[in-house]
Amino acid sequence: MRNLAKLLIWVAGISPLGFACAPSPAVGGGGAGAGGSGAAAGTLGGIASGGRAVGGAPAGGAGASTSGGEAGSPAGSGGVAAVAGTGNGGASAGSGNGGGGGASGGTGGATACAGATTLKDAGSCTNRLIGVALTNRHLDEPEFAAAALQFNYVTPEDEMKWDVTEPQQGTFTFAEGDAIVEFAEANGMKVKGHTLVWHNQLPSWLDALNEAQLRAALKAHIEGVMAHYAGRVIAWDVVNEAFDDDGSLRSSIWSQKLGQSFIEDAFRFARAADPNVKLYYNDYDIESAYAKADSVYEMVKDFKQRGVPIDGVGMQMHTRTTDEDPPVPELIVNLDRLLALGVEVVLSEMDVRYCADGTDEKQKKRFHDIVAACVARSGCGAITIWGITDRYSFLNDRTDLQCAGSLPPRPLLWNDDYQKKPSFDGVMDALLGR
Ligand code: G3I
Repeated sequence: MRNLAKLLIWVAGISPLGFACAPSPAVGGGGAGAGGSGAAAGTLGGIASGGRAVGGAPAGGAGASTSGGEAGSPAGSGGVAAVAGTGNGGASAGSGNGGGGGASGGTGGATACAGATTLKDAGSCTNRLIGVALTNRHLDEPEFAAAALQFNYVTPEDEMKWDVTEPQQGTFTFAEGDAIVEFAEANGMKVKGHTLVWHNQLPSWLDALNEAQLRAALKAHIEGVMAHYAGRVIAWDVVNEAFDDDGSLRSSIWSQKLGQSFIEDAFRFARAADPNVKLYYNDYDIESAYAKADSVYEMVKDFKQRGVPIDGVGMQMHTRTTDEDPPVPELIVNLDRLLALGVEVVLSEMDVRYCADGTDEKQKKRFHDIVAACVARSGCGAITIWGITDRYSFLNDRTDLQCAGSLPPRPLLWNDDYQKKPSFDGVMDALLGR
């Protein structure tokens, strides 16, 4: 039933900012990583710019990380490696992420951070970034921009995709992506680039290329885009959704012309293009006990064994009010086995759509329980919500992804009128260990 529903339904590091939380004893499964020992208080965190600061947030003012942190540290140094540390706590102090190990081993931030009133401050208490997908389409709306200040990490929803950034071969257009980055920098938020290689939102000129030309275009695209954003993003979704639901390689222009090697090539091109950002593989339905989750796990394991540069895995987490896809216990199994490979895991595109007898309280509980599973693990370094208001969720246009005969998806933390929903409290509670 679940598999059938799934087939029908889905086609398709990090340093806290600003909020000074005294590291408190971990009370969960955590150990005693030395909070506050992280290197690199952000070559990225404090960039002041002329972008739009809203709601009184200081432009670039939140860059000085007060605890932990690897965001600005060079890849290959302790920063990236340590954030990938799999233990709950006890991650080597002094390795650039000691703060993460100690503070987020359990729910230890709760006491010291009980006064946190924003999601980003609550996230900082356990040393993780709280992100949101933003789009230029709505940034000029004051309520949209004000709500965005709850977060300290931004993923551009569409503005860095291939069709936008390289609409003609060799002609790069960055205005759309730049606007998001400027907004983020003006409001003390870090940025994750999204996404370098995907089967969607591609320009048509790629279709005419043969194998060698396509591989060269892949390399040139990665180099061009990453060079432009070097120093302004802390991570990239390098490859997005390369596997199909049954765990096989997804049929796409990439797999058809280049075979599975395009994934590895993309990561190698990306590391060469910018050694200072984290490189993620990003996918959906890898949170549950599905073949696709196994395929991604095996790929990451292979990459780690052979030295293919990968720093983390994004579990998209487009989920539902029903306790499936993923059931929390299956999520935990997948989280822990990926973390054990020595990569970071992030929840990269979370939303919880109403299904069946969905209620506000069920949605709140789903958000809570899933976020709590991440918070309990130091290697789960960021949680990103895929949008701000229900009004603009991508799911509104995707009837194929909505639960048949069910309620409108309403999958986010603010309702159509920018009122906070119980789901907001569910996330806040989980971040504060409640
Ligand atoms: O740019 C055109 C615009 O010119 C035109 O007027 C308009 C008319 O509808 O369409 C615009 O393109 C839309 C684009 O977003 C930018 O707004 C596309 O129709 C629309 O399909 C596209 O949707 C995006 C979708 O990815 C594409 O697959 C969603 O905004 C975005 O939220 C969604 O995000 C993806 C992640 O990148 C990867 N993981 C899954 C996630 C949800 O599908």
